[in-house]
Amino acid sequence: MLKGKTILLGVTGGIAAYKAVELLRLYVKAGAEVFVVMTKSAREFVTPLTFQTLSGNPVHTELFNLYQEQEIGHISLADRADLVVVAPATANIIGKVAGGLADDLLSTTLLATKSPVFFVPAMNVNMYENPLYQANQKKLEGFGYYFLEPATGYLACGWEGKGKLPEPQTIFEESLRLLSPRDLNGETVLVTAGPTREELDPVRYLSNYSSGKMGYAIARIARQRGARVILVSGPTALAVPCGVEMVQVASARQMRDAVMARLAEATVVIKAAAVADYRPTKRAEHKIKKGQEAELELILEKNPDILAELGQCKTTQLLVGFAAETTELVENARKKLETKNLDLIVANDVSRSDAGFDVDTNAVRLLYRDGSSEELPLLSKDEVARQLLDRIAKLRHPSA
Ligand code: PMT
Repeated sequence: MLKGKTILLGVTGGIAAYKAVELLRLYVKAGAEVFVVMTKSAREFVTPLTFQTLSGNPVHTELFNLYQEQEIGHISLADRADLVVVAPATANIIGKVAGGLADDLLSTTLLATKSPVFFVPAMNVNMYENPLYQANQKKLEGFGYYFLEPATGYLACGWEGKGKLPEPQTIFEESLRLLSPRDLNGETVLVTAGPTREELDPVRYLSNYSSGKMGYAIARIARQRGARVILVSGPTALAVPCGVEMVQVASARQMRDAVMARLAEATVVIKAAAVADYRPTKRAEHKIKKGQEAELELILEKNPDILAELGQCKTTQLLVGFAAETTELVENARKKLETKNLDLIVANDVSRSDAGFDVDTNAVRLLYRDGSSEELPLLSKDEVARQLLDRIAKLRHPSA
Protein backbone atom coordinates (compact mmCIF):
# COMPACT_ATOMS: atom_id res chain seq x y z
CA MET A 1 0.00 0.00 0.00
CA LEU A 2 2.80 2.41 0.92
CA LYS A 3 5.66 0.59 -0.79
CA GLY A 4 8.19 3.09 -2.10
CA LYS A 5 6.85 5.92 0.08
CA THR A 6 8.90 7.73 2.70
CA ILE A 7 7.17 9.21 5.70
CA LEU A 8 8.76 11.56 8.18
CA LEU A 9 6.97 11.20 11.50
CA GLY A 10 7.40 14.10 13.90
CA VAL A 11 6.51 13.34 17.52
CA THR A 12 6.03 16.18 19.99
CA GLY A 13 5.58 16.12 23.74
CA GLY A 14 2.14 15.07 24.84
CA ILE A 15 0.67 12.11 26.67
CA ALA A 16 -0.65 10.84 23.31
CA ALA A 17 2.98 10.33 22.11
CA TYR A 18 2.59 6.64 22.92
CA LYS A 19 -0.09 6.37 20.19
CA ALA A 20 2.53 7.49 17.64
CA VAL A 21 4.20 4.12 18.22
CA GLU A 22 1.10 2.32 16.92
CA LEU A 23 0.87 4.78 14.03
CA LEU A 24 4.48 4.04 13.09
CA ARG A 25 3.70 0.31 13.16
CA LEU A 26 0.80 0.84 10.73
CA TYR A 27 3.01 2.79 8.30
CA VAL A 28 5.76 0.17 8.45
CA LYS A 29 3.27 -2.69 8.02
CA ALA A 30 1.93 -0.94 4.90
CA GLY A 31 5.46 -0.91 3.43
CA ALA A 32 6.53 2.71 4.04
CA GLU A 33 10.04 3.71 5.04
CA VAL A 34 9.65 5.86 8.14
CA PHE A 35 12.08 8.27 9.77
CA VAL A 36 11.17 9.65 13.16
CA VAL A 37 12.06 13.05 14.57
CA MET A 38 11.31 13.58 18.26
CA THR A 39 11.29 16.83 20.17
CA LYS A 40 12.97 17.04 23.57
CA SER A 41 9.62 16.92 25.39
CA ALA A 42 8.41 13.93 23.33
CA ARG A 43 11.37 12.01 24.77
CA GLU A 44 9.93 12.60 28.25
CA PHE A 45 6.99 10.38 27.26
CA VAL A 46 8.45 7.68 24.97
CA THR A 47 12.05 6.65 24.39
CA PRO A 48 13.68 7.03 20.95
CA LEU A 49 14.69 3.38 21.18
CA THR A 50 11.04 2.29 20.79
CA PHE A 51 10.67 4.23 17.53
CA GLN A 52 14.12 3.18 16.35
CA THR A 53 13.38 -0.52 16.90
CA LEU A 54 10.04 -0.38 15.10
CA SER A 55 11.12 1.83 12.19
CA GLY A 56 14.49 0.14 11.65
CA ASN A 57 15.97 3.63 11.21
CA PRO A 58 17.88 5.89 13.61
CA VAL A 59 15.64 8.36 15.42
CA HIS A 60 16.60 11.99 15.01
CA THR A 61 16.49 14.30 17.97
CA GLU A 62 19.20 16.95 17.76
CA LEU A 63 19.65 19.87 15.39
CA PHE A 64 23.35 20.12 16.05
CA ASN A 65 24.47 16.52 16.22
CA LEU A 66 27.51 15.82 14.08
CA TYR A 67 26.85 12.11 13.84
CA GLN A 68 23.17 12.50 12.90
CA GLU A 69 23.90 15.37 10.47
CA GLN A 70 26.52 13.32 8.70
CA GLU A 71 24.25 10.33 8.40
CA ILE A 72 21.12 12.13 7.21
CA GLY A 73 20.89 15.82 7.95
CA HIS A 74 17.71 17.76 8.55
CA ILE A 75 17.61 19.16 5.02
CA SER A 76 17.98 15.68 3.60
CA LEU A 77 15.19 14.47 5.90
CA ALA A 78 12.99 17.34 4.74
CA ASP A 79 13.74 16.60 1.09
CA ARG A 80 13.14 12.90 0.94
CA ALA A 81 9.70 12.65 2.58
CA ASP A 82 6.57 12.03 0.51
CA LEU A 83 4.59 13.12 3.56
CA VAL A 84 5.53 14.72 6.86
CA VAL A 85 3.15 13.76 9.68
CA VAL A 86 3.28 15.43 13.08
CA ALA A 87 1.36 13.29 15.59
CA PRO A 88 0.70 14.28 18.26
CA ALA A 89 1.18 17.95 17.37
CA THR A 90 1.20 20.27 20.36
CA ALA A 91 0.03 23.88 20.35
CA ASN A 92 3.74 24.73 20.72
CA ILE A 93 4.93 23.15 17.43
CA ILE A 94 1.92 24.52 15.54
CA GLY A 95 2.58 27.99 17.02
CA LYS A 96 6.25 27.78 16.09
CA VAL A 97 5.59 26.82 12.47
CA ALA A 98 2.86 29.47 12.18
CA GLY A 99 5.39 32.01 13.44
CA GLY A 100 8.12 30.80 11.08
CA LEU A 101 10.33 29.72 13.98
CA ALA A 102 12.98 27.03 13.69
CA ASP A 103 14.77 26.37 16.96
CA ASP A 104 15.02 22.58 17.06
CA LEU A 105 15.29 19.71 14.59
CA LEU A 106 11.54 19.21 14.05
CA SER A 107 10.61 22.89 13.58
CA THR A 108 13.64 23.36 11.31
CA THR A 109 12.68 20.34 9.23
CA LEU A 110 9.08 21.56 8.98
CA LEU A 111 10.25 24.94 7.76
CA ALA A 112 12.65 23.41 5.25
CA THR A 113 10.38 20.78 3.71
CA LYS A 114 8.53 21.17 0.45
CA SER A 115 6.59 17.95 1.12
CA PRO A 116 2.95 17.99 2.23
CA VAL A 117 2.70 18.40 6.01
CA PHE A 118 -0.08 16.81 8.03
CA PHE A 119 -0.63 17.96 11.63
CA VAL A 120 -2.63 15.86 14.06
CA PRO A 121 -3.20 18.16 17.04
CA ALA A 122 -3.74 16.81 20.55
CA MET A 123 -4.00 19.09 23.56
CA ASN A 124 -6.17 20.34 26.40
CA VAL A 125 -9.62 21.44 25.20
CA ASN A 126 -9.14 25.02 26.44
CA MET A 127 -5.83 25.30 24.59
CA TYR A 128 -7.49 23.89 21.46
CA GLU A 129 -10.34 26.38 21.66
CA ASN A 130 -8.06 29.32 22.48
CA PRO A 131 -8.40 31.90 19.66
CA LEU A 132 -4.61 32.20 19.49
CA TYR A 133 -4.26 28.49 18.74
CA GLN A 134 -7.21 28.57 16.31
CA ALA A 135 -5.67 31.54 14.47
CA ASN A 136 -2.39 29.63 14.09
CA GLN A 137 -4.15 26.56 12.67
CA LYS A 138 -6.20 28.71 10.29
CA LYS A 139 -3.08 30.49 9.11
CA LEU A 140 -1.31 27.19 8.40
CA GLU A 141 -4.36 25.74 6.63
CA GLY A 142 -4.32 28.84 4.44
CA PHE A 143 -0.75 27.94 3.46
CA GLY A 144 -1.79 24.40 2.50
CA TYR A 145 -0.91 22.48 5.67
CA TYR A 146 -3.32 19.62 6.42
CA PHE A 147 -4.99 19.11 9.80
CA LEU A 148 -7.04 16.30 11.30
CA GLU A 149 -9.67 17.35 13.81
CA PRO A 150 -8.99 16.04 17.33
CA ALA A 151 -11.37 13.51 18.81
CA THR A 152 -13.70 14.38 21.67
CA GLY A 153 -13.59 12.59 25.00
CA TYR A 154 -11.96 12.38 28.39
CA LEU A 155 -8.58 14.12 28.23
CA ALA A 156 -5.49 13.18 30.24
CA CYS A 157 -5.55 16.61 31.92
CA GLY A 158 -8.90 15.73 33.53
CA TRP A 159 -11.09 17.85 31.26
CA GLU A 160 -13.62 16.49 28.80
CA GLY A 161 -13.92 17.88 25.30
CA LYS A 162 -12.19 18.13 21.95
CA GLY A 163 -8.45 17.58 22.09
CA LYS A 164 -7.79 13.82 22.05
CA LEU A 165 -5.49 12.35 19.43
CA PRO A 166 -7.70 10.39 16.97
CA GLU A 167 -7.12 6.64 16.78
CA PRO A 168 -3.91 5.64 14.92
CA GLN A 169 -6.02 3.81 12.29
CA THR A 170 -7.88 7.06 11.51
CA ILE A 171 -4.60 9.01 11.20
CA PHE A 172 -3.19 6.21 9.02
CA GLU A 173 -6.19 6.29 6.69
CA GLU A 174 -6.05 10.06 6.40
CA SER A 175 -2.33 9.75 5.54
CA LEU A 176 -3.22 7.26 2.79
CA ARG A 177 -5.68 9.79 1.43
CA LEU A 178 -3.00 12.48 1.31
CA LEU A 179 -0.63 10.11 -0.49
CA SER A 180 -3.17 8.77 -3.01
CA PRO A 181 -3.76 9.93 -6.58
CA ARG A 182 -6.81 12.23 -6.78
CA ASP A 183 -8.27 10.65 -9.89
CA LEU A 184 -11.78 10.51 -8.41
CA ASN A 185 -11.93 14.21 -7.50
CA GLY A 186 -15.35 15.60 -8.28
CA GLU A 187 -17.03 12.16 -8.33
CA THR A 188 -19.79 11.12 -5.97
CA VAL A 189 -19.53 7.37 -5.53
CA LEU A 190 -22.53 5.55 -4.10
CA VAL A 191 -21.49 2.13 -2.76
CA THR A 192 -23.66 -0.62 -1.30
CA ALA A 193 -22.15 -3.23 1.01
CA GLY A 194 -22.96 -6.04 3.38
CA PRO A 195 -25.94 -8.35 3.64
CA THR A 196 -29.60 -7.54 3.98
CA ARG A 197 -31.79 -9.00 6.71
CA GLU A 198 -35.34 -10.12 6.01
CA GLU A 199 -37.27 -10.54 9.23
CA LEU A 200 -39.33 -13.65 9.98
CA ASP A 201 -40.44 -12.54 13.41
CA PRO A 202 -39.09 -10.14 16.09
CA VAL A 203 -36.07 -12.39 16.81
CA ARG A 204 -35.23 -14.15 13.51
CA TYR A 205 -34.26 -13.18 10.00
CA LEU A 206 -33.03 -14.56 6.65
CA SER A 207 -29.63 -13.27 5.59
CA ASN A 208 -26.27 -14.34 4.07
CA TYR A 209 -22.56 -14.43 4.92
CA SER A 210 -21.57 -11.06 3.48
CA SER A 211 -19.24 -9.28 5.91
CA GLY A 212 -19.23 -5.96 4.04
CA LYS A 213 -15.42 -6.12 3.60
CA MET A 214 -15.51 -5.79 -0.20
CA GLY A 215 -17.89 -2.82 -0.28
CA TYR A 216 -16.20 -1.03 2.64
CA ALA A 217 -12.81 -1.37 0.92
CA ILE A 218 -14.26 0.26 -2.21
CA ALA A 219 -15.81 3.06 -0.14
CA ARG A 220 -12.59 3.70 1.83
CA ILE A 221 -10.32 3.76 -1.20
CA ALA A 222 -12.71 5.84 -3.34
CA ARG A 223 -12.68 8.46 -0.59
CA GLN A 224 -8.85 8.29 -0.38
CA ARG A 225 -8.77 9.05 -4.10
CA GLY A 226 -10.79 12.23 -3.75
CA ALA A 227 -14.41 11.09 -4.23
CA ARG A 228 -17.32 12.05 -2.07
CA VAL A 229 -18.57 8.64 -0.91
CA ILE A 230 -22.03 7.57 0.21
CA LEU A 231 -22.01 4.08 1.71
CA VAL A 232 -25.36 2.32 2.02
CA SER A 233 -24.70 -0.69 4.21
CA GLY A 234 -26.57 -3.62 5.60
CA PRO A 235 -25.65 -4.76 9.14
CA THR A 236 -21.91 -5.48 9.51
CA ALA A 237 -19.34 -5.55 12.30
CA LEU A 238 -17.03 -3.12 10.46
CA ALA A 239 -16.04 0.39 11.55
CA VAL A 240 -17.43 3.25 9.46
CA PRO A 241 -14.64 4.27 7.05
CA CYS A 242 -13.22 7.70 7.77
CA GLY A 243 -14.95 10.55 5.91
CA VAL A 244 -17.71 8.58 4.17
CA GLU A 245 -21.39 9.41 4.48
CA MET A 246 -22.92 6.33 6.06
CA VAL A 247 -26.49 5.16 5.62
CA GLN A 248 -27.36 2.08 7.69
CA VAL A 249 -30.16 -0.16 6.46
CA ALA A 250 -31.36 -3.67 7.24
CA SER A 251 -33.75 -5.03 4.61
CA ALA A 252 -33.57 -5.06 0.80
CA ARG A 253 -36.50 -2.68 0.64
CA GLN A 254 -34.75 -0.23 2.96
CA MET A 255 -31.61 -0.52 0.84
CA ARG A 256 -33.63 0.15 -2.31
CA ASP A 257 -35.21 3.29 -0.83
CA ALA A 258 -31.85 4.59 0.48
CA VAL A 259 -30.15 4.04 -2.89
CA MET A 260 -32.93 5.46 -5.04
CA ALA A 261 -33.17 8.56 -2.82
CA ARG A 262 -29.47 9.29 -3.46
CA LEU A 263 -29.14 8.25 -7.10
CA ALA A 264 -29.45 11.80 -8.45
CA GLU A 265 -26.38 12.89 -6.44
CA ALA A 266 -24.20 10.01 -7.65
CA THR A 267 -21.88 9.94 -10.64
CA VAL A 268 -20.83 6.32 -10.01
CA VAL A 269 -22.86 3.52 -8.36
CA ILE A 270 -21.14 0.33 -7.21
CA LYS A 271 -23.38 -2.45 -5.90
CA ALA A 272 -21.25 -4.81 -3.83
CA ALA A 273 -24.04 -5.67 -1.37
CA ALA A 274 -25.43 -9.19 -1.18
CA VAL A 275 -29.12 -8.41 -1.37
CA ALA A 276 -31.67 -11.07 -0.48
CA ASP A 277 -33.69 -11.95 -3.56
CA TYR A 278 -36.66 -13.07 -1.44
CA ARG A 279 -38.24 -12.14 1.89
CA PRO A 280 -40.88 -13.85 4.02
CA THR A 281 -44.33 -12.92 2.74
CA LYS A 282 -45.42 -12.25 6.29
CA ARG A 283 -43.39 -11.11 9.28
CA ALA A 284 -44.93 -12.65 12.40
CA GLU A 285 -45.81 -10.06 15.01
CA HIS A 286 -44.65 -12.36 17.84
CA LYS A 287 -41.92 -14.97 18.07
CA ILE A 288 -42.94 -18.05 16.07
CA LYS A 289 -43.53 -20.87 18.59
CA LYS A 290 -42.32 -24.41 18.18
CA GLY A 291 -45.38 -26.55 17.32
CA GLN A 292 -46.05 -30.29 17.07
CA GLU A 293 -45.36 -30.36 13.30
CA ALA A 294 -42.06 -31.82 12.08
CA GLU A 295 -41.85 -29.19 9.34
CA LEU A 296 -42.46 -25.49 9.12
CA GLU A 297 -43.24 -24.01 5.75
CA LEU A 298 -42.09 -20.51 4.91
CA ILE A 299 -43.56 -18.61 1.99
CA LEU A 300 -41.23 -16.09 0.39
CA GLU A 301 -41.88 -13.29 -2.04
CA LYS A 302 -39.56 -11.47 -4.36
CA ASN A 303 -37.63 -8.42 -3.21
CA PRO A 304 -37.09 -5.48 -5.53
CA ASP A 305 -34.05 -5.95 -7.77
CA ILE A 306 -32.28 -2.69 -6.94
CA LEU A 307 -29.60 -3.04 -9.58
CA ALA A 308 -32.13 -3.72 -12.35
CA GLU A 309 -34.12 -0.66 -11.28
CA LEU A 310 -30.93 1.45 -11.28
CA GLY A 311 -30.16 0.19 -14.78
CA GLN A 312 -33.55 1.45 -15.92
CA CYS A 313 -33.45 4.89 -14.33
CA LYS A 314 -29.77 5.82 -14.52
CA THR A 315 -28.96 8.91 -16.54
CA THR A 316 -25.26 9.79 -16.67
CA GLN A 317 -24.15 7.52 -13.81
CA LEU A 318 -21.60 4.77 -14.37
CA LEU A 319 -23.29 1.63 -13.04
CA VAL A 320 -21.17 -1.22 -11.66
CA GLY A 321 -22.66 -4.47 -10.40
CA PHE A 322 -21.22 -7.56 -8.76
CA ALA A 323 -22.22 -11.11 -9.61
CA ALA A 324 -21.69 -13.76 -6.97
CA GLU A 325 -21.63 -17.07 -8.82
CA THR A 326 -20.81 -20.67 -7.98
CA THR A 327 -21.20 -22.02 -11.55
CA GLU A 328 -20.78 -20.65 -15.08
CA LEU A 329 -19.22 -17.47 -13.74
CA VAL A 330 -18.70 -15.57 -16.98
CA GLU A 331 -21.95 -16.58 -18.70
CA ASN A 332 -24.11 -15.72 -15.68
CA ALA A 333 -22.29 -12.45 -15.01
CA ARG A 334 -22.54 -11.33 -18.64
CA LYS A 335 -26.27 -12.05 -18.61
CA LYS A 336 -26.61 -9.76 -15.56
CA LEU A 337 -24.47 -7.07 -17.21
CA GLU A 338 -26.78 -7.02 -20.20
CA THR A 339 -30.20 -7.51 -18.63
CA LYS A 340 -29.53 -4.99 -15.87
CA ASN A 341 -28.00 -2.40 -18.25
CA LEU A 342 -24.65 -2.11 -16.45
CA ASP A 343 -21.40 -0.51 -17.60
CA LEU A 344 -19.22 -3.02 -15.80
CA ILE A 345 -19.76 -6.16 -13.74
CA VAL A 346 -17.41 -7.76 -11.24
CA ALA A 347 -17.83 -11.52 -11.62
CA ASN A 348 -17.05 -13.05 -8.28
CA ASP A 349 -16.25 -16.76 -8.04
CA VAL A 350 -17.75 -17.49 -4.63
CA SER A 351 -17.25 -21.25 -4.91
CA ARG A 352 -13.64 -20.77 -3.73
CA SER A 353 -12.93 -20.73 -0.02
CA ASP A 354 -10.44 -17.86 -0.43
CA ALA A 355 -12.79 -15.58 -2.37
CA GLY A 356 -16.16 -13.92 -1.95
CA PHE A 357 -18.07 -13.97 1.30
CA ASP A 358 -16.43 -13.13 4.65
CA VAL A 359 -12.76 -13.53 3.71
CA ASP A 360 -10.03 -10.92 3.20
CA THR A 361 -9.17 -11.91 -0.38
CA ASN A 362 -11.14 -12.02 -3.60
CA ALA A 363 -10.86 -13.53 -7.08
CA VAL A 364 -12.75 -11.60 -9.73
CA ARG A 365 -13.10 -11.13 -13.46
CA LEU A 366 -14.14 -7.72 -14.80
CA LEU A 367 -16.61 -7.81 -17.70
CA TYR A 368 -17.18 -4.71 -19.79
CA ARG A 369 -20.04 -3.48 -21.93
CA ASP A 370 -18.03 -3.82 -25.16
CA GLY A 371 -17.66 -7.57 -24.65
CA SER A 372 -14.09 -7.46 -23.32
CA SER A 373 -13.05 -8.87 -19.95
CA GLU A 374 -10.00 -9.20 -17.73
CA GLU A 375 -9.21 -11.62 -14.97
CA LEU A 376 -7.52 -10.38 -11.80
CA PRO A 377 -5.43 -12.80 -9.74
CA LEU A 378 -6.33 -13.63 -6.14
CA LEU A 379 -5.84 -10.31 -4.32
CA SER A 380 -6.67 -8.67 -1.02
CA LYS A 381 -10.07 -6.97 -1.12
CA ASP A 382 -8.27 -3.61 -0.77
CA GLU A 383 -6.27 -4.37 -3.91
CA VAL A 384 -9.38 -5.54 -5.81
CA ALA A 385 -11.03 -2.24 -4.80
CA ARG A 386 -7.97 -0.29 -5.96
CA GLN A 387 -7.86 -2.01 -9.34
CA LEU A 388 -11.61 -1.70 -9.84
CA LEU A 389 -11.43 2.03 -9.08
CA ASP A 390 -8.50 2.39 -11.53
CA ARG A 391 -10.78 0.98 -14.27
CA ILE A 392 -13.71 3.15 -13.17
CA ALA A 393 -11.54 6.32 -13.19
CA LYS A 394 -10.47 5.43 -16.77
CA LEU A 395 -14.06 4.80 -17.88
CA ARG A 396 -15.07 8.17 -16.41
CA HIS A 397 -12.14 10.03 -18.01
CA PRO A 398 -10.88 7.97 -20.97
CA SER A 399 -8.42 10.65 -22.14
CA ALA A 400 -6.75 11.19 -18.71
O1 PMT B 1 -19.17 -8.61 1.93
P1 PMT B 1 -18.01 -9.56 1.74
O2 PMT B 1 -17.94 -10.62 2.81
O3 PMT B 1 -16.71 -8.83 1.54
O4 PMT B 1 -18.29 -10.39 0.39
C1 PMT B 1 -18.24 -9.74 -0.84
C2 PMT B 1 -19.36 -10.22 -1.78
C3 PMT B 1 -19.17 -11.69 -2.11
C4 PMT B 1 -20.74 -10.03 -1.12
C5 PMT B 1 -19.26 -9.32 -3.09
O5 PMT B 1 -17.98 -9.47 -3.65
C6 PMT B 1 -20.31 -9.69 -4.10
O6 PMT B 1 -20.14 -10.57 -4.93
N1 PMT B 1 -21.49 -8.99 -4.05
C7 PMT B 1 -22.66 -9.32 -4.84
C8 PMT B 1 -23.47 -10.38 -4.16
C9 PMT B 1 -24.77 -10.67 -4.87
O7 PMT B 1 -25.80 -10.46 -4.31
O8 PMT B 1 -24.62 -11.12 -6.10
P2 PMT B 1 -25.90 -11.49 -7.07
O9 PMT B 1 -25.27 -12.15 -8.23
O10 PMT B 1 -26.95 -12.21 -6.30
O11 PMT B 1 -26.48 -10.08 -7.48
C10 PMT B 1 -26.04 -9.38 -8.65
C11 PMT B 1 -26.05 -7.89 -8.39
O12 PMT B 1 -27.39 -7.44 -8.20
C12 PMT B 1 -25.27 -7.44 -7.18
O13 PMT B 1 -24.61 -6.24 -7.53
C13 PMT B 1 -26.35 -7.18 -6.14
O14 PMT B 1 -25.96 -6.12 -5.24
C14 PMT B 1 -27.53 -6.76 -6.99
N2 PMT B 1 -28.85 -7.12 -6.44
C15 PMT B 1 -29.18 -8.42 -6.22
C16 PMT B 1 -30.44 -8.73 -5.77
C17 PMT B 1 -31.37 -7.70 -5.53
N3 PMT B 1 -32.59 -7.98 -5.08
N4 PMT B 1 -31.02 -6.43 -5.74
C18 PMT B 1 -29.77 -6.12 -6.19
O15 PMT B 1 -29.46 -4.95 -6.39
